Amino acid sequence: MITKKLFGTVSDNFNYGKEVYAYTLANDSIELTVMEYGATILRARVNTPAGWRDTVCGYDALRSYEEAEGYLGAVVGRIGNRICRGKFSLDGVDYSLYINNGVNHLHGGKRGFDKKLWTATVSDDAVTFSAVSPDGEEGYPGTLTMSVTYTLTAEGGFKIAYRATTDKKTILNLTNHAYFNLAGEGYIGSHKILIDADRYLPTDDTLIPTGEIKSVKGTPFDFTEEKLISEGLEADDNEDIVIGGGIDHCLVFADRGEGVKERATVTSPDGSIVMKVFTDRPCVQFYSGNFLGDERYPFRGGKPQQRRHAFCLETQSMPDAINHENFLDCTLSAGEEFVTCTEYRFSVK
Ligand code: GLA
Repeated sequence: MITKKLFGTVSDNFNYGKEVYAYTLANDSIELTVMEYGATILRARVNTPAGWRDTVCGYDALRSYEEAEGYLGAVVGRIGNRICRGKFSLDGVDYSLYINNGVNHLHGGKRGFDKKLWTATVSDDAVTFSAVSPDGEEGYPGTLTMSVTYTLTAEGGFKIAYRATTDKKTILNLTNHAYFNLAGEGYIGSHKILIDADRYLPTDDTLIPTGEIKSVKGTPFDFTEEKLISEGLEADDNEDIVIGGGIDHCLVFADRGEGVKERATVTSPDGSIVMKVFTDRPCVQFYSGNFLGDERYPFRGGKPQQRRHAFCLETQSMPDAINHENFLDCTLSAGEEFVTCTEYRFSVK
């Protein structure tokens, strides 16, 4: 069942006064609400024996999504995460992107895909958001035509399917920036987590990968066996954790071939909700909400926004890949189609 409701009206200069609708996909186990602005996940409630529980953080007002900096639940791109100094070269041409994060370019720039008003198409069981990013937008080459489809799965999850084509060679790293807290609120440290990643990308102090692809063995980034998030997060004798201000790193999945694989399992502090992440992407940016805490933008229902009270598992390719020859290819050429999907699947006790 899919229902549609007005969420707010846009107040920025680009789409001033336009109405933004939210769509709720619901079955007996999960209720997912997504909206046209940013193709954003507003809410994901899971049905537990003790009642419905919020698992994804969101704001009450559209204005917060327009103004705040956390990219809550949004589709981010054209390039998710950072590009060093906003510079890259492709086929001998140098490109300069908007600098919006210290000295770097982050999540698509001044007006990334999180600020786009996407067009919704609703079918029996899916909501698809479509948008075009014009050639030169935010400095990127090529007209990018894309869609993001949300569906509920029979196994108790929601799936995000991305598609994109370009008319000229470009670079692309789309992901979703949902902030999870399986307890609904509170410090995330007591969630248990397992991630099928045997390597990670250390960063410099501007959070740009150094270029090294390092084994997680013996580091706080080794989640190959289940452990508390706090065990990694609070390892403040580790240089990478100190530089990153916590966990804010790209973890590279173990090579298990092509296709969708189960890559992460997170258990709520009370053990009542288990979330599994299935994806065909090669990496995940595991972000422990270190920059949360902007008091001007409380979460749903007036809950204070607090540092490390939510985490993101942004399935993607390698950040800043275009500037590192040893990283995975992030280019998309004319005639190719970018097709990828990620499912967040919940089970309850
Ligand atoms: C990503 C980055 C973080 C931070 C958030 C948004 O996850 O890796 O450093 O910028 O987005 O606040």
